[in-house]
Amino acid sequence: MCGIVGYVGKKNATPFLLEGLKALEYRGYDSAGLYVAGAGMVKRAGKVAELASAVPKNFSGTMGIAHTRWATHGAPTEQNAHPHTDASGTIWLVHNGIIENHAELREPLAKSGVRFASETDTEVLTQLIGSLYKKDVLLEDAVAAALARVHGTYGIAVASSREPGKIVAARLGSPLLIGIGTEGYYLASDATPLLPHTREVMYLEDGELAVLTREGYVVKHLARGPVKKSIEHLEWSAEAAQKKGYEHFMLKEMMEIPEVIENALRGRLAHATGTAHLGGLRDVLPRLLLARRIVITGCGSAYYAGLVGELLIEEFAGIPVEVEIASELRYRPHTADVKETVLIAISQSGETLDTLEALRAAKRNGMLTLGIVNAVGSTIARETDAGVYNHAGPEISVASTKGFISQLTVLALIALLLGRERGLSKSEGKKIVEELAKLPEKARRILAKRESIAVIAKKYAKIRDAFYLGRKFECPVAYEGAIKLKEIAYIHAEAYGAGEMKHGPIALIDSSFPSVVLAPKDSLYEKTKSNIQEIRARGGPIIALTTEGSEADIGKLADDLISVPAAPEALLPILTTIPLQLFAYYVAKERGLPIDQPRNLAKSVTVE
Ligand code: F6R
Repeated sequence: MCGIVGYVGKKNATPFLLEGLKALEYRGYDSAGLYVAGAGMVKRAGKVAELASAVPKNFSGTMGIAHTRWATHGAPTEQNAHPHTDASGTIWLVHNGIIENHAELREPLAKSGVRFASETDTEVLTQLIGSLYKKDVLLEDAVAAALARVHGTYGIAVASSREPGKIVAARLGSPLLIGIGTEGYYLASDATPLLPHTREVMYLEDGELAVLTREGYVVKHLARGPVKKSIEHLEWSAEAAQKKGYEHFMLKEMMEIPEVIENALRGRLAHATGTAHLGGLRDVLPRLLLARRIVITGCGSAYYAGLVGELLIEEFAGIPVEVEIASELRYRPHTADVKETVLIAISQSGETLDTLEALRAAKRNGMLTLGIVNAVGSTIARETDAGVYNHAGPEISVASTKGFISQLTVLALIALLLGRERGLSKSEGKKIVEELAKLPEKARRILAKRESIAVIAKKYAKIRDAFYLGRKFECPVAYEGAIKLKEIAYIHAEAYGAGEMKHGPIALIDSSFPSVVLAPKDSLYEKTKSNIQEIRARGGPIIALTTEGSEADIGKLADDLISVPAAPEALLPILTTIPLQLFAYYVAKERGLPIDQPRNLAKSVTVE
């Protein structure tokens, strides 16, 4: 959610800190601040641009830490922005996560005379470290002693004016990685700000604390002592995290969808045998094939992708699947035979805390855990027993678009592999492989028609409410369409299985309440058409989405029509989702909203 950057080395830290915050702004963005050794601290409520214009020209030093905040405790004001400093003004700290026992820690500090300048849990930790940072104590020892008293989650970077060439970083539940550059060491809460400077990185694990100086770094585990870390090479390019001339990251990321499908499929389609090669699952395949039940989990769009995955796996492989929101699953007991149950955790960022905790609970219970993750090296990718990477490249816009499509593509591959191992015929498998290979071109054709979707979006830009309706494979697509409209266009949108309408929701229909109905020519086409009739009979406007060839038929019933190329119904969500993402984008654009950074939201949700 919040973002952290830090630098210690030979160069002036300030330009990297400001650029880094800008690159991280998509994670959380209600206030920002930085501390640079020798120069001091600047904080501002609002966007990073406001902070940047408040930083004086000569604000320089070779070590610094910075933060962009997504408020949890305390309003997004300048006072509550990070860094926070202790009573003596010696220590400077930035923090992602939540200190759960902040009230308990605050009380004795307040009694001893400490006066708090903010309402944040982070300041409590800063003051606690300050109180332990006696004359002969090293910063890392004071930080370690304070962390031993903390309950909650944190990714922190701490600096001290007494030890100006040093950053102490520590992690529990909130990601942090160290970039190894030629002119110094970088710290960041995700890889994006590091890309222009270095691709050699080292991920901190939970419980680890790192001390960074110009000369190098040392890492220890707070309970187990020194640890030897390995350096990993980031594959993403710096260019991939830029807008490349598009007005918004969201549009750029949707335009990348054909390529993203290609990347998810590359080297994984076995045309001759009609199956999928998934190297990441090879070692666990024997156990995976014993599965009598699969549980899929994720949050938001990743959960909706899981709902498509459920249908895919049941249809291709006949294995019962249950899909549960991670923030619920993690608190439920695992009652089925865990040895025969496989958990699939889906996460674009690989850092969503609820998904991570649901995964950890399943692991503790002895389940085989798999990940469908986009961010290589992220926590979920590292903690699952095995998995399949999406290869979608960095997704910067808060609303997931290409990330969701890549999740569907990977789920189709997993379902195909499981299916072929469990009775799906070679000829059926070959047909699926052929159809998967055609998807990038079909996605290109949809994107080429984006202007016609913009025209429809303009017509509906002022609506207050909308229904999104679909059946079977299109039901999760309806959920995905509705969440996009809610989050970026701020329009109330509800999604239902189309057959559910008459059990209550249809009471809301009138001429001001449009329904977006997913009506491709699939096995439930006629039934969906009847649902459209029911809405029309009550005066509700219809935006219908169908497949090529059915335009004339559905067109008679719809006020507005969008069509996509035909495909087998199990693969259609990969195509039918695209116009819905474009529709939400153009509605939000028409309403003049901050599309890439919608209010109240953050990209990677690392709080519970
Ligand atoms: C919706 C959206 C969110 C994410 C959810 C999970 O457009 O982006 O609902 O899908 O927060 O995020 P990841 O996939 O990173 O775990």
